[in-house]
Amino acid sequence: MSDETDPQSAIDAQGEQRRAELDDRIFEHNAGDEQEGIPFVGAGPGDPRLLTVAGKELLEEADLVVHAGSLVNSELLEEYCDHAETVSSIGKDLEELIPLMRDAHEDGDNVVRLHSGDPAIYGAALEQMDALEHEGVPTYFVPGVTSAFAASATLRTQLTLNEVSNHVAFTRPQGKTLTEEDDHIGEFVEMGDVTTCIYLGTHAVADTMDRLIDDGHDPEIPVAVVYHASWPDEDVIVGTIGTIGEKIEEAGYRASAMVIIGDAVTGAGYERSYLYDGWADRGPDDDADDDSSETADSEQTDPAETTQ
Ligand SMILES: C[S@@+](CC[C@H](N)C(=O)[O-])C[C@H]1O[C@@H](n2cnc3c(N)ncnc32)[C@H](O)[C@@H]1O
Repeated sequence: MSDETDPQSAIDAQGEQRRAELDDRIFEHNAGDEQEGIPFVGAGPGDPRLLTVAGKELLEEADLVVHAGSLVNSELLEEYCDHAETVSSIGKDLEELIPLMRDAHEDGDNVVRLHSGDPAIYGAALEQMDALEHEGVPTYFVPGVTSAFAASATLRTQLTLNEVSNHVAFTRPQGKTLTEEDDHIGEFVEMGDVTTCIYLGTHAVADTMDRLIDDGHDPEIPVAVVYHASWPDEDVIVGTIGTIGEKIEEAGYRASAMVIIGDAVTGAGYERSYLYDGWADRGPDDDADDDSSETADSEQTDPAETTQ
């Protein structure tokens, strides 16, 4: 970083600027467009085939790829980045990462910052982008498949299901980074129609479930843990709030798993959606489901706006 800026002042300054005025690039580009600067690319959950086409093209053109270490499958790096210098970000702080990417960019290299899953979820991408932007290096996001979506595909279910789950929470458990007060897992479970997807909680499954039981939640609520979703060693452990902790301890997983709590885990007990049940004949209806129809009379009645 330049001598006069520490990362937090860069973050604060960029935040102030955003608060005062929206970035013109928001209106000039669509997600997925190739833009000027360093792309922050979502690698997807692991399987190289779950990288987006946009991400693959950017990696193929890259000279330097700074990646998220063991959370990015080395097969993906071998397949798409064998011509590029690859550097793991593990163990590096912003003071090291920013000059590394900035200098390569200023030397005319194509730099890609590769995050696991989607960079917008527990990726700490924006602070790197702000620090780079503050130093005059443009950046942008390229989305990826987040691990919760890979896990739901593995489980052959939907995270939202008519009459079972109307909401999805992406969350993490209390620990070094999150205080007890900011841990809302119990509240999401309490709501009943929320599918709770816990990131960064593999090491804490037993403690998390014990807290739920102590707080009086039904121990029979289904829970699935998908370890390394989409990787060759993917593993699925299913149970309930009452049983999953012990199962995970036995399996010995301490990282890299998605924990999903809620009835949607089983894919059972839902009711047919309105979309394929004559919704169009019923007039305006906020309850219309699914995301596949473009045939609504007006935007107000477009069920694509009220997806299930
Ligand atoms: C630092 S967060 C990054 C999340 C990532 N940005 C995403 O969108 O999936 C790391 C956590 O994501 C989850 N995770 C990442 N990849 C996973 C995978 N392939 N299978 C299951 N969980 C995964 C784990 O909970 C892990 O602790």
